[in-house]
Amino acid sequence: MNSIEWNGQALILLDQTKLPVSEEYIHCTDWRQVAEAIKMLRVRGAPAIGVAAGYALVLAAREAAAQGDRDEQFTAFFEFANTLKATRPTAINLAWAVERVCTLVRTCIENNGNDGADNHAVYLADCLDRIEAEAIAINEEDLALNRAMAKAGARIFEGRRGLRILTHCNAGALATAGIGTALGVIRELHANGQLSMVYADETRPLLQGARLTTFELHQDGIPVTLLTDNMAAYAMQQGLIDAVIVGADRITTEGDVANKIGTYGVAVLAKAHGIPFYVAAPYSTFDFTLASGKDIPIEIRDSREVTHFQGCQTAPDGVPVLNPAFDVTPHEYVSAIITEAGVLYPDYTKSIARLHKEVQER
Ligand code: MRU
Repeated sequence: MNSIEWNGQALILLDQTKLPVSEEYIHCTDWRQVAEAIKMLRVRGAPAIGVAAGYALVLAAREAAAQGDRDEQFTAFFEFANTLKATRPTAINLAWAVERVCTLVRTCIENNGNDGADNHAVYLADCLDRIEAEAIAINEEDLALNRAMAKAGARIFEGRRGLRILTHCNAGALATAGIGTALGVIRELHANGQLSMVYADETRPLLQGARLTTFELHQDGIPVTLLTDNMAAYAMQQGLIDAVIVGADRITTEGDVANKIGTYGVAVLAKAHGIPFYVAAPYSTFDFTLASGKDIPIEIRDSREVTHFQGCQTAPDGVPVLNPAFDVTPHEYVSAIITEAGVLYPDYTKSIARLHKEVQER
């Protein structure tokens, strides 16, 4: 069973908050359940929430279609879409997927009634089918581009063996619809016999590294060693790390990278130790409207995620807390960005613009 599965009527999500202790699935038949699952990180990782949002909009569209007249139906749909988009503000794949489906719906609206006939019911049924097809396409594309990214990333390490790679958070199968972004590259290196060890940062405060990265690598028989976030410097100083590979939640046109809180620290450490720092992310993670990482909205989450762990209090009552879910690594720290269309190197303003042009012209 995949962590995200659509059966035509419901979206079935593996509840990642329960891992690794238990494997529980949530059957979402209402888009609000998907919105809650995204907000609560039951489904998480930038590409995965984009895929989940696509299916949530199928459910939203079906609900909207059952309301009043044509205008009420479309108004309700766009309201639902906006609510869904606001659940997590940093990962641009969510907004990208919602916008992709909304663009399709706008086209349906423009075509509806263009032939002068009053056959709204026929157009509506067609529009619902097209929304579902679009959601399935987003899902299937993610699978394919994970594989392309893995191959592109592995080429960086051609001819090398015994690689020891550090990763932060979880950018694996659980965070995508496929084999993962950063972990996709790592899987490819493992398959090629080039990998010796993955070092997985625990990733405070919600332990995506400890709970999820080690879980999925361990299950696949890929050698993994867990370390707490504050041990990364030690591991680098000891010469245990050959390269860092992480995922991303948003990349600007200058190559600044938003990813799980703590990534920036890892990048600074890597530079200080002369270790290359790679980011693996698909085209849908680039924000072509932003140049500087300073303009990326950073999601600030509930202080309880820091003061408590799985219901157990770890800080005094009432203590003020800072809980940003992401930080931004400036492009100077990024050795290369691995995409499904190949590896981008500095100058990122140029290489990212080239990627954008190539994709637009396809
Ligand atoms: O808060 P999360 O768990 O959704 O954060 C996830 C990350 O930061 C991942 O590294 C990123 O989304 C890339 S996933 C392929």
